Amino acid sequence: MRVTGTGHASMRIDTPAGSILCDPWVNPAYFASWFPFPDNSQLDWAALGDVDYLYVSHLHRDHFDAAHLKRYVSKRATVLLPAFPTSEMEDELRELGFTQFLKAPNEEVVDLGGGLKVMIQALTSPTDGPIGDSSLWVEHDGVRLLNQNDARPTDLSVFTELGHVHAHMLQFSGAIWYPMVYELPNAAKTAFGKQKRDRQFDRTWRYIDDLKADHVFPIAGPPCFLDDTLWQFNDIHGDEGNIFPDQSVFLDEYAKVGGTNGVVLLPGSVAEVTADGCQTTHPVPVAEFFANKVAHLEEMRERKQPIIAAEKASWRHPEVDVLGEMQRRIEPLLNESIYLAKGVGGPVRFDLVDVDDAGTETVESIVVDFPGKQVRPYADEKVRYRFRTERALIEHLLHIGEVDWVNSLFLSCRFSAARIGQYNEFVYAFFKCLSQERLQYAEGWYDEHERAVDAEDITLGDWVVQRRCPHLKADLSRFGIVADDQLTCQLHGWRFDLASGRCLTSVGHKIRAERADEQTPAPVVETTTT
Ligand code: FES
Repeated sequence: MRVTGTGHASMRIDTPAGSILCDPWVNPAYFASWFPFPDNSQLDWAALGDVDYLYVSHLHRDHFDAAHLKRYVSKRATVLLPAFPTSEMEDELRELGFTQFLKAPNEEVVDLGGGLKVMIQALTSPTDGPIGDSSLWVEHDGVRLLNQNDARPTDLSVFTELGHVHAHMLQFSGAIWYPMVYELPNAAKTAFGKQKRDRQFDRTWRYIDDLKADHVFPIAGPPCFLDDTLWQFNDIHGDEGNIFPDQSVFLDEYAKVGGTNGVVLLPGSVAEVTADGCQTTHPVPVAEFFANKVAHLEEMRERKQPIIAAEKASWRHPEVDVLGEMQRRIEPLLNESIYLAKGVGGPVRFDLVDVDDAGTETVESIVVDFPGKQVRPYADEKVRYRFRTERALIEHLLHIGEVDWVNSLFLSCRFSAARIGQYNEFVYAFFKCLSQERLQYAEGWYDEHERAVDAEDITLGDWVVQRRCPHLKADLSRFGIVADDQLTCQLHGWRFDLASGRCLTSVGHKIRAERADEQTPAPVVETTTT
């Protein structure tokens, strides 16, 4: 099996029975904030896009590049489609001209003929990608590969059951706006960033250890930031709180925990994976490339400026009545929302600013009032979250009818934020569900999970706790670590105070826990047989 690195989470898999292009991403994403790193725009995309199958893991714009898919990927390709709850991905791909779809039943092996088999695992909680994320397993001639990319399944047993995996591709770097955009003192930001960076690596080691593949390929990050206002997010400034470590840092960190089977793919690298080994060739030596990272980024920054300038010029729509449009689009959704609105539990404020040569000025302050089910001008009140961003960005989102402000505004990092209290996942879940279809799905999902009784307990250290994490049901016998009477679930790093059951990371999500030596003995139940 041949794997060609095509940048970020993208790769082309070639076998004698067919080729699969995964997640091709070249154009900047999220308001021209993210660019693929290393640059992959000079690959021969016409040849790479001439494939039998296309797999797009999810709709995040650094995986789903509509302009690139339209121009470069053969419309004769059959799309391997994850079993997502909404039809958005299929609809968008049809719009781009794709007509052949293979809807892969969730977690079922599909035989594509000639010995080529695939299986897709779709994750479907409202916090997985933009309503869905997925992983692709591929087998040919006894060689198996798992392209896990950004997906965070609770465990990998569904793949390990299918036999030993030879190549494991997974995310290791950050892909979020936390903590950089928060209005915090620099020392606190660095401390939170460092924690986050450590957690990302811990989670990666956990998955690697679960699968025990012969070769581990760090993929799906980091992006690079080429706009001057975001340049500081590149991990080139010696900031230990930077959440975007690159592939060479991965190799160093992996070596510290004993990892010796890491394989970095640059755009254009080719790995021949067999049951006995992996031979890789690179367009330039990997160590040399990363030694020259700053020069590479500076050259890219220079070359991509016209693209950034053209994108920026398209954002302003001063004719948009921002308050009126937000009321028209968001109030009906607030009225339909039960779980998300209750979960947010307070007003969320948007300060909209104009930026010009004279400086930055707040021109409008709007509140999305979740308890009051209203969008209205800010009334000098306490708010749960405050976001501060350019008015032009919101104008643009309203102009194009964007239903997912996470997959556009928030991932752009072109905002700052402050909040009272803990992280609140419902805020972001709501702003990624600005359509009736998405909102109804998310509401239904929370409804089902609120009702689900998770009765099984396990013992961790001195504590008996519920087996499944209150966040997204990770098996705490694998992901839970107890220290100082606190439990950390390593899947997303959420922490719980075991004495009170309180979640220390996010509101709600209480855990059931009791000291093992204080456990009430189970009542004796008499049974009779008939
Ligand atoms: S499942 Fe997310 S922190 Fe446990």
